[in-house]
Amino acid sequence: MAEKKFERNLLCIGAGYVGGPTMAMIAHKCPQYKVTVVDVMAEKIAAWQTDDLPIYEPGLLELVKSCRGKNLFFSTDVEKGIKESEVIFISVNTPTKTFGEGAGKSADLQYWEKTARDILRVSESDKIIVERSTLPVKTAIAMERILSLNEKGLNFEVVSNPEFLAEGTAIRDLEKPDRVLIGSKETESGLKARQAIVDIYANWIPKSNLITSNQMSSELSKLVANSFLAQRISSINSISALCEKVDADVREVANAIGKDSRIGDKFLNASVGFGGSCFKKDILNLVYLCETYGLQDVAEYWEGIVKINDYQSTRFVQTIMKAMFNTITNKRIALFGFAFKANTSDTRETAALSVTKKLMMEKAHVVISDPKAIKNAKNDLKDYGDDIEYEEDPYKAAKGAHAIAIATEWDLYKTLDYEKLYHDMEKPAFIFDGRNILDHEKLFEIGFEVHPIGRPPLIHFKEN
Ligand code: NAD
Ligand code: UGA
Repeated sequence: MAEKKFERNLLCIGAGYVGGPTMAMIAHKCPQYKVTVVDVMAEKIAAWQTDDLPIYEPGLLELVKSCRGKNLFFSTDVEKGIKESEVIFISVNTPTKTFGEGAGKSADLQYWEKTARDILRVSESDKIIVERSTLPVKTAIAMERILSLNEKGLNFEVVSNPEFLAEGTAIRDLEKPDRVLIGSKETESGLKARQAIVDIYANWIPKSNLITSNQMSSELSKLVANSFLAQRISSINSISALCEKVDADVREVANAIGKDSRIGDKFLNASVGFGGSCFKKDILNLVYLCETYGLQDVAEYWEGIVKINDYQSTRFVQTIMKAMFNTITNKRIALFGFAFKANTSDTRETAALSVTKKLMMEKAHVVISDPKAIKNAKNDLKDYGDDIEYEEDPYKAAKGAHAIAIATEWDLYKTLDYEKLYHDMEKPAFIFDGRNILDHEKLFEIGFEVHPIGRPPLIHFKEN
């Protein structure tokens, strides 16, 4: 049978949380394109070809299955992919640098640069390169510079097209994004490349949601969007500390301020702290950029968001310590949730990790429970060996425990039988609700000592 002819060949380098879902959505919405996703990790590519995908994301498996093998392909053959594609999306990881100049703040661009060099070495025709990874401002220009060094007479246009999906809601975010941002050079060839990317998204996204700009505005907007989102969480978390001192309720404060349409009601849930692979990394990237350009005061302003986030998880453990009579040594503490948010197995930069480490420093007996993230938790905490227990079933995790600490807002934890949990725990039985998702008054009635975030605790045993 002759091979099916497609209108365009699209390639994505990097089959992770962004590359996999984004390309699955493009393939699903655009059967006229051949979409290939490549990665250097053979086991990841193998998993994308099964029903046990390498990442957990609601709705992803159905989406992948709708087009896999038809116009969506996964492969380790990066070179072949580059050769046969006109448009190359790059969604490789860009973690915070851990060594050398800019360590701890700037983005580590080694994976990014490697893809640029692969493209340069292998290409036999002109290409549009699409930045999907989150990158420092002016990376597109630097990349174009590297690519223009070719002696083959080829033309490469680099377009910035940052991703704004959130994990756990990735499929909805990709299907109905608030906006898609496409930044290109404003030359004739740059604008042509911009239009080619607009045309891909216009297959399912209204034109009014497709925003175009120059490359630098697009790159900077991604860092700024994440920094603003994280800023809201650190703002409300900082206020949660004050609420606990003055007997105010942070949920009531959030509700009251959120009704002001200029403020808005989203992203005002006080918590044990934000996690995820990007917020901290992207803020630090912004901080580094400001420092690079001599904007020290601006850098310090944004760095404060990360400081408050660290403060919040430290404060959470201090509350546990203080409530439990200043010692948790050998006490069984069931940590409910390890993923950085609900509906994902991702544990990168999860607040639960810093909480666990602090509890371990106090020699607590930590039992980690999570419906999807146990495998990643075990990997993150492998240095502790058998000192940490893992138990998917929350009832088993809490059996004989002195305390439950909620670290992730999984729906599952809202509907547990807390009477049963209380019955099976040591007394006094403590609950530290790091997500404010439980019915605190009801828990108090059951007999728990209840410590929410940003609300006065509900305690039976009051000190004189
Ligand atoms: P990830 O670690 O899940 O995936 C990146 C993949 O790239 C890995 O599988 C890695 O093996 C692969 N890779 C690295 N170098 C390669 C190379 N030279 N050739 C082929 N494959 C290579 O990362 P992610 O979470 O998908 O994030 C990717 C980028 O997108 C980052 O810049 C991140 O900041 C940004 N981003 C992430 C999210 C998110 O929700 N995770 C959202 C928006 C933007
Ligand atoms: C975030 C952004 O929301 C995405 O737009 C962006 O594309 C992405 O980062 C990225 O660049 O990687 P994500 O980290 O997947 O998405 O998830 P969020 O829903 O933003 O949650 C981040 C963290 O903040 C989680 O730990 C969450 O529990 C916490 N959070 C969120 C709060 O503590 N309170 C809130 O009110 C909201």
